[in-house]
Amino acid sequence: MEGIGTCYYRRVHHRLFPEGIDRFYTPFLSVYPNLAFRKRDLREIRPAAGECPEDTKIRRMLVPQILARNAKEILWAAQQLSALGFSMIDLNMGCPSGTVVGKGGGAGMLSDPGRLDRMLGEVFSDPDFAASGVTLSVKTRLGLSDPEEFFTILPVLSRYPLREIIVHPRVRAEQYSGHPHRELLRRILWSTQIPVGYSGDLFTAEDVHRFRDEFPEIPHILLGRGIVSDPSLARQCSGGAPLSVNELKSFVQAVTTEYEAVLDNERQLLLKLKELWYYMGALFVSRDGSDTERLLRNLRGAASMSEYRNALYALFEKCTLGGHFSGIA
Ligand SMILES: Cc1cc2nc3c(=O)[nH]c(=O)nc-3n(C[C@H](O)[C@H](O)[C@H](O)COP(=O)(O)O)c2cc1C
Repeated sequence: MEGIGTCYYRRVHHRLFPEGIDRFYTPFLSVYPNLAFRKRDLREIRPAAGECPEDTKIRRMLVPQILARNAKEILWAAQQLSALGFSMIDLNMGCPSGTVVGKGGGAGMLSDPGRLDRMLGEVFSDPDFAASGVTLSVKTRLGLSDPEEFFTILPVLSRYPLREIIVHPRVRAEQYSGHPHRELLRRILWSTQIPVGYSGDLFTAEDVHRFRDEFPEIPHILLGRGIVSDPSLARQCSGGAPLSVNELKSFVQAVTTEYEAVLDNERQLLLKLKELWYYMGALFVSRDGSDTERLLRNLRGAASMSEYRNALYALFEKCTLGGHFSGIA
C-alpha cells in the first residue's frame, strides 16, 4: 500500500508477524515518462547498503508493483526489475487517483479496452520481455464507473499469459465506499482461464475464513487495510493467536525506530505514524468508559513526538484491544 507498506514497514512486520504471508507487494513504483523510477521507490527494490539476511529473505518474497502508462514503460520497468533479480511483477490497474487516471495509469487503463489490448500485445510480443522470463500479473478494479465494464476488459486480459488477475471488485468512482461487488466474482471466474486473486474488505480472520469458504477456487488473497490495522491478521488467518497488547506496543516501537532512522524531521515521522493509526486505532476499546475517539483524536492531532507519546500512553492505559477496522476509521 502506497505510503504504508514500505521496506521499513515490511522489515518490522516480517520480523514480528511472519506467519501466514507468502508474498509482499511493494507500494506502486511509478515509472516516469523519461523511463526512470523515483529515487525513494528504488529503496523498495534495491538491496540496501548493509542489507541483513532477513532483508534478503523479504526481497525474495517481494513482488514489485509498477504504475506505468504504456508498453514502453512496462517493458523498461520489467527489464530493470529483472536485472535486480525479480521474476514476478505486478501492474497497477486500480489506482483511483485523479492525477494517475488522467495520465492513463492505474484505473485509467480500464477506460479503453482497445488501447489495453494493444498495450498488452506489445508487451507480450516483445522478444526481450519473453527472454527475461519475467511474469506479469495485474491488480485491477472492475472499471471506471460501472462494474459491468469488467466484462469487456476481462476478455482482453484473458488473451494474454498473465500470471494472475488480482481483482479489487470496486469501480474507480466508488473509491473505497460501499461493498466490493463479490456477486460478480463467480462470473469472473467462469469467464477466464487465468488464476484470479482477490482484494477487498477482508478485515478480520472471520472475514477471510468466510471468503475462503465461499470461494475456495480463489486461493490467493491480498490483505490491505485489514492487516495494516491488525498486523497479526495473516497469522490469525492461518490459525494463530490474536494480537496482544505487548505485540502491538513492540510493533509500533519498532516501526517508529525504523522511520526515525530515515526520515528527516519530526513532522514527517508524525505523519507516517498517524497514517498507521488511522487503521490501528480501530482495534482499541475503552476499559473504563473513557471516550476512545477522544483518545485517538489526541493521538492523530499530536503536534510533536512528545505529545504523540503522551497520547499513546493514555490510549494503552485506558483501552484494550477488541475492536476491528471496518472500512471507516
Ligand atoms: C492508503 C492506500 C494505499 C494503497 N496503495 C495501493 C498500491 O500502491 N497498489 C495497489 O495495488 N493497491 C493499493 N491500494 C489498494 C489496496 O491494495 C486494496 O486493493 C484495497 O484497499 C482494497 O482492499 P482492502 O479492503 O483489503 O484494503 C491502496 C489502498 C489504500 C487505502
